[in-house]
Amino acid sequence: MELFVDTADTNAIAELAEMGLIDGVTTNPSLIMKSERDIFEVVREICDLVEGLPVSAEVVATEAESMVAEGVRLSKIASNVVVKVPLTWDGLKACRILSGDGTKVNVTLCFSANQALLAAKSGATYISPFVGRLDDINLDGMELIAEIVEIYDNYDFETQVLAASIRTANHVCDAAKIGAHVATVPPELIKKLVLHPLTDKGLASFLADWKKSGGEILK
Ligand code: G3P
Repeated sequence: MELFVDTADTNAIAELAEMGLIDGVTTNPSLIMKSERDIFEVVREICDLVEGLPVSAEVVATEAESMVAEGVRLSKIASNVVVKVPLTWDGLKACRILSGDGTKVNVTLCFSANQALLAAKSGATYISPFVGRLDDINLDGMELIAEIVEIYDNYDFETQVLAASIRTANHVCDAAKIGAHVATVPPELIKKLVLHPLTDKGLASFLADWKKSGGEILK
């Protein structure tokens, strides 16, 4: 499974990119607002930081023609920009036009398998089902990931399932087990994936024994 980072925080992206941990970046209007930066400036910087990896930038128009116009502007920032459009009727129209022109499109705000079916037929490169927001209303977000993976597999759709609104370490592991192509994860959660109490306990005991041995590796 590919791991994207879900943020517009360039410091966090730079650290993760340097470690080779991420395969792409996703942003949305809320994350851009949080960065307190101009969308063109911040997306350009992100595209430079991740050198050719996919970077999703979202349109804010609600009507197809304007979504396409915004998408064209965003895609001019860099060749690795993926235009994000919402899963509405107009979003699907825009997806069809943009993908027909060779632009990669991430269809976002997906909450049902039927929506995902339509997005695939419209030529989406990625479909973004929101796991956490379904869990928030007491539905099973991961069940939606499983349904979409099954449907896309049944018919060999090329659209990649990008599990979004990922909130927990279990979400990441479950998305990988189900076969999502990508999970987009906030940087703080990516950092938490490394943690295990037995790792800390084991390291503490190794270091205590090493101290007793009086040995040195770097003299
Ligand atoms: O980028 C879309 C998605 O990942 C948002 O997540 O936590 O705001 O539901 P969240």
